[in-house]
Amino acid sequence: MSLADADTGRAESARVIAVANQKGGVGKTTTAINLATALAAINKRALVIDLDPQGNASTGLGIAVADRVRTSYHLLMGEADIESAATQTIVPGLWMIPSEPDLTGVEFELVTESDRAFRLRSALEGATEQFEYVLIDCPPGLGLLTLNGLVAARSILIPLQCEFFALEGLTQLLGTIERVRKGFNPSLEMEGVVLTMFDRRNNLSEQVANDVRQYLGAKVFDTVIPRNVRVSEAPSHGKPVLLYDFRSAGARAYMYLVSEMLRREQAAAAQAPVGAAAV
Ligand SMILES: Nc1ncnc2c1ncn2[C@@H]1O[C@H](COP(=O)(O)OP(=O)(O)OP(=O)(O)O)[C@@H](O)[C@H]1O
Ligand SMILES: [Mg+2]
Repeated sequence: MSLADADTGRAESARVIAVANQKGGVGKTTTAINLATALAAINKRALVIDLDPQGNASTGLGIAVADRVRTSYHLLMGEADIESAATQTIVPGLWMIPSEPDLTGVEFELVTESDRAFRLRSALEGATEQFEYVLIDCPPGLGLLTLNGLVAARSILIPLQCEFFALEGLTQLLGTIERVRKGFNPSLEMEGVVLTMFDRRNNLSEQVANDVRQYLGAKVFDTVIPRNVRVSEAPSHGKPVLLYDFRSAGARAYMYLVSEMLRREQAAAAQAPVGAAAV
């Protein structure tokens, strides 16, 4: 089935969420693919864009390397559009644009292009009606790829690993968001911070979670993603944990996260003046 055949439903543009944190290994990819899967599970049309040359989201959603033909690299280089690059994943109703190692070179290939920060945003323009949610899995670091993600997004979702240096990195990331708002995307909202790899048996996890909540208040989701071995096993089977073991604590946590996110969206929409975007 091609994307053009998919049920396009309401002609509203998608909620584009960049999953970003410059720190490596904090749960960005795990959160992007499982959140997207949880959205698809409740019949929301969702697209994941893998913006990381490592291709972890592509692997985690079961896209074989040989099938990564049209990728986010082609999207940023203007050589493919969303429709031709989107491919179906093993999750019914979930589409993705895979990545490839060539994406590493984009920063240099686009160095002389004045619109280099807006490439993904332009690619998404007019192409988001097929989807209700677009989740962008950003790479670690704050280079051009992450910048493209933040410029294209309506909001940023920050996974934060419950460990000692979590807050230190967060301050830098919040500064970056401010600069992106000033220079590129004034309406970039904060979707929220999600605490990941929380370990109940570890006092430090609890301490970090408390500190983050004190610092950011309501921006932090109540739902906490526990450290769970089924979550870490799932990618090696090419499946999100919701397919690999939907009864696991990790899978359930991502379902709770989606319902909390939708509740928050509804609450924000109810408060917003008529015609205004939800904040
Ligand atoms: N809740 C969890 N429980 C156990 N392991 C987890 C959990 N979340 C993520 N992991 C594991 O931790 C590692 C890092 O997670 P992930 O790849 O999602 O982070 P990332 O922020 O995308 O990393 P990178 O910065 O390299 O892109 C992976 O091996 C993943 O399987
Ligand atoms: Mg990743």
